Amino acid sequence: MNWHTRYTQQARWTQSLRAYLYPRVNIQSARRILEVGCGTGALLTEIAQQTGAALFGVDIDRSALDQAAAHAPESFLSHADGLRLPFIFQTFDIVYCHFLLLWVRDPLAALIEMKRVIRPNGAILALAEPDYGGRIDYPAELAVTGEAQRESLRAQGADPDMGRKLKGLFAEAGITPIETGVLGGQWHDPLPPAEWENEWAVIESDLAGAASSLDLPHLKKLDRQAYARHARVLFVPTFYAWGRVV
Ligand SMILES: C[S@@+](CC[C@H](N)C(=O)[O-])C[C@H]1O[C@@H](n2cnc3c(N)ncnc32)[C@H](O)[C@@H]1O
Repeated sequence: MNWHTRYTQQARWTQSLRAYLYPRVNIQSARRILEVGCGTGALLTEIAQQTGAALFGVDIDRSALDQAAAHAPESFLSHADGLRLPFIFQTFDIVYCHFLLLWVRDPLAALIEMKRVIRPNGAILALAEPDYGGRIDYPAELAVTGEAQRESLRAQGADPDMGRKLKGLFAEAGITPIETGVLGGQWHDPLPPAEWENEWAVIESDLAGAASSLDLPHLKKLDRQAYARHARVLFVPTFYAWGRVV
């Protein structure tokens, strides 16, 4: 699995959300911006083109950070746990994360840590947290794939239903929620073959150990046929939230 390709694809799904939110948090006037769980730097690379702010990224995975150093060479990167950020309090104007909190052992503690390093009236953004419990699969016989992926995420230590919890977690962390929402679904036909293959690479990697009872080649065939009929719908509600600390 090429993780940078995967993260870049996920970043494309949420691009219009960022275009909507960045002006609302005055990204142009920010001086220091932090991404917690920056992965291979897919978002840092993009944000570098939109602001003159100093960019910082932390991640717990050293190999992801090595890639981030190549993709976002202008960023200051640290190998650290989001639960113990290596910064003094009130360092940043904006702190954001993207597909992070579902993976964190204690997401409330992670948000409280983001709150510690944000300056007064700074903005904290959770840009994408999926909710597999609300996933729609059509045709119905493909729903087993979604259910197995949800279980597989759970087995990997993730919370597959993080999306719905985001709003309450912000409030509990003492971050005044300003806006919470769900990204809309759009389906462009035909789906580029490379994207379909990539999607299946993720499914097969997710379900490698867990899905012995699933006939993946058969499901893959059904999935291909459904796409060919333009009937396939796959929607994972993906939540976002942003707020300020006053
Ligand atoms: C799905 S990836 C998203 C990467 C990046 N935000 C993006 O959207 O391209 C989640 C990232 O969070 C990192 N991560 C998970 N738990 C973490 C923690 N406690 N502290 C810091 N990073 C963490 C993982 O190593 C991984 O790189």
